Amino acid sequence: MRLTVIGTGYLGAVHAACMADLGHDVLGVDTDTRKIEALAAGRAPFYEPGLAELLTRNTRSGRLRFTTSLQEAADFADLHFVCVGTPQRPDSLAADLSHVEAVVDGLAPLLTRDSLVVGKSTVPVGTTRSLSRRLAARLRPGVTAEIAWNPEFLREGYAVQDTLRPDRLVVGATSAHADGLLRTVYEPMLRSGVAYVGTDPATAELVKVAANSFLATKISFINAMAEVCDASGADVVTLADALGHDVRIGRRFLSAGLGFGGGCLPKDIRAFLARAEELEVGEAVSFLRQIDRINERQRRRTVDLARHLLGGTFAGRRVAVLGATFKPDSDDVRDSPALAVAAQIVAADADVRVHDPEGLDNARAALPGPAYCPDVVEACRDADLVLHLTEWRQYRALDPAHLSEVVRAPRLLDARNALDPAAWRAAGWQVRALGRPAPVPPPGTGEALRVTIPQAVGPNCTAPTP
Ligand code: UDX
Repeated sequence: MRLTVIGTGYLGAVHAACMADLGHDVLGVDTDTRKIEALAAGRAPFYEPGLAELLTRNTRSGRLRFTTSLQEAADFADLHFVCVGTPQRPDSLAADLSHVEAVVDGLAPLLTRDSLVVGKSTVPVGTTRSLSRRLAARLRPGVTAEIAWNPEFLREGYAVQDTLRPDRLVVGATSAHADGLLRTVYEPMLRSGVAYVGTDPATAELVKVAANSFLATKISFINAMAEVCDASGADVVTLADALGHDVRIGRRFLSAGLGFGGGCLPKDIRAFLARAEELEVGEAVSFLRQIDRINERQRRRTVDLARHLLGGTFAGRRVAVLGATFKPDSDDVRDSPALAVAAQIVAADADVRVHDPEGLDNARAALPGPAYCPDVVEACRDADLVLHLTEWRQYRALDPAHLSEVVRAPRLLDARNALDPAAWRAAGWQVRALGRPAPVPPPGTGEALRVTIPQAVGPNCTAPTP
């Protein structure tokens, strides 16, 4: 089939590459010339495992092309996927639909044949209905077009496999024709057994928002339990393991720590709250406000515990921050809990050195204060505290014995509960984590801080921007 993918950000670039890989002829469209040039050359404009190979393979075969022209898109196909962003509005909790509306407004008058527009972006329930009216009002006489909603559930870091082998496909369509066209698009996936939920557009829109709200709730639930563990001496990791054995609960998304961030979960629960208010059912989902608050609190709790470990002040202390992205296997720092913590520590006058395997460029652009170190050992050199904020696999492979010789004081705060506390303690480290009891330190060890703090930046680190 011939199809276009309008918007080649995270969602669109992956969708376009995967649809081409399924065998379709795909034209990706974006207004960002630099992004289009990179994609057309087979280069991924962001870090995502497996995407570069797909782009290279399918641009070479000619099945995947890119353009900045919406006119070219309208001429190329009668099936258009819309994958533009729906960020949080700057003035409220609601989603900003201006990009989706701009695509509909721009595409409608260019259509000369009957067409299907398929939204994949995360939108408030009811959007398909209002966009359908908008589309109809802008079509040329004699041309008909329909909008269906087909939300995407991909996770960053697993985007290619989530797109090609999703847990389910959800399609909200108002006609059998639209439903049939989408079944044809996804036919190779359906043949391999992927579940297909055909429904109305409102339900499809809501599935996505409800799924992200549920995941956010699971994370904030276990983080609330972590606070109770801290107050009672219980252990949140064992608690989560024990809860997870119950198949009705499940262990996934029960990792307590710094909480959720990224371009989806935080803004999606806020947009849901805003939409529910409009629908006069705000009370029904008001618990999501608490989910958001619990999540924000993890960042403060991490900063407070770090300050406590440093004897009550960050001023003049050197802190190594391991991880800047909002989660591992991504270079995305949007609403990153790790960067939010780093920013607070920088503001409290610590000498902060950040390491991240993939996110350093984005982090540097988002937060100019710290030094950024491509080498994790250099980031830890002379540190008074090592803060583990994003659970990259590389950090689990660190040798605590070697690192203890590099730092000024072997203190670790594992805000992701992903490192092995026993191994670090055995190598002489003082280890704390959220929701896990601190062992009583042997007499004569523990809180003593060496006080002369070298301010020089190591050879492999970029000096902080003044
Ligand atoms: C999420 C949804 O999972 C995906 O289905 C949707 O399409 C987009 O939003 P993503 O933002 O890529 O995907 O990340 P995800 O893996 O869901 O993690 C979200 C955040 O939750 C991360 O910051 C992660 O660190 C945090 N998290 C996740 C926890 O704090 N604890 C957990 O147990 C799981």
